[in-house]
Amino acid sequence: MNDLLENKTIEDEMIPVMNRFLSFIPGISKSLAVPVVYAENLTKKEFIEKWVSRNKPCLVKNAVLHWPAVQKWKHQEYWLSQCDNFDINVYPHQNFNTHERQDAGKEVMPFHKAIERLFSDNEDTVSLPAEHITENGRFAKIKADMPGFTFLPETENPRYYQRMRFFSYRRAATGWHYHGIDETLMCQVNGTKRVALLSPEIPKPAYITKYLNQENYLNNEPFNVQHDINPYLVDVEEGDALYIPPYWHHVVVPVDGKVGFTVAFCWKSPLHILGDFSNYFVRALYKQGMWPLNINTFFMPLLGCYAGTSHLIRKLSRRV
Ligand SMILES: [Fe+2]
Repeated sequence: MNDLLENKTIEDEMIPVMNRFLSFIPGISKSLAVPVVYAENLTKKEFIEKWVSRNKPCLVKNAVLHWPAVQKWKHQEYWLSQCDNFDINVYPHQNFNTHERQDAGKEVMPFHKAIERLFSDNEDTVSLPAEHITENGRFAKIKADMPGFTFLPETENPRYYQRMRFFSYRRAATGWHYHGIDETLMCQVNGTKRVALLSPEIPKPAYITKYLNQENYLNNEPFNVQHDINPYLVDVEEGDALYIPPYWHHVVVPVDGKVGFTVAFCWKSPLHILGDFSNYFVRALYKQGMWPLNINTFFMPLLGCYAGTSHLIRKLSRRV
């Protein structure tokens, strides 16, 4: 924890937020480094085989540095000129998991007013989270600002999440959560965020998941995990993208009080990723999908058979 407090790259005003979301994790002061790769040297084959197929995170330096968004989105006038004045949800606090916390203080206001508030020079926390970017949606005009990835020229549409959504913020962290399905590149268009991650191989995954999902750390409830759970910690700087695999708990905190923009780009996981039934989070995915009774109750076992076979074949072929 001392390292978190003393780290010179965190602005003073963000230290209480950083501690609120991170300090209860045992071992956070001697966290592991996320492996770093460089977009200019990275091929699709290497990215998929070394990281995606193995369900391991990596930081891709300069992944989106070539995006026009990196320069354009810094300017308030650009947003006002490109987007209509539709109503939008604005939150004056961190991004929380529970509806009660998240909806507290929510304001619906015209987009131009929201942008002016975001860029205003005061101490407020402002968050416009998870806005979808589609061809025909209300943010269609900014889609051209994000011309893809050199190391990932094409991907299949995600199974659950939107293909692209973006987060506009000042001082707003996003609490602990994990993606139960789909692959994600968290792209820092503007600003730097610190991300902590926990491997799906954590001890007591059911207990830890319940504790984090319910945001018990915000109530100062004891976290009954004494030993080091080997958290990973990484700073994602402007122009970088963090590959966040499914099943990895993570928390995201800006390191300063400046305006920032993050794009989450998602695509479909390889089938074998959904077939490792030794993984607690894979089992949880099927349980959640099948119950209560719905169309997926019949579809999920079929998917499980295919995915399980795919995982087994991969495991056996790698052994050979
Ligand atoms: Fe996330």
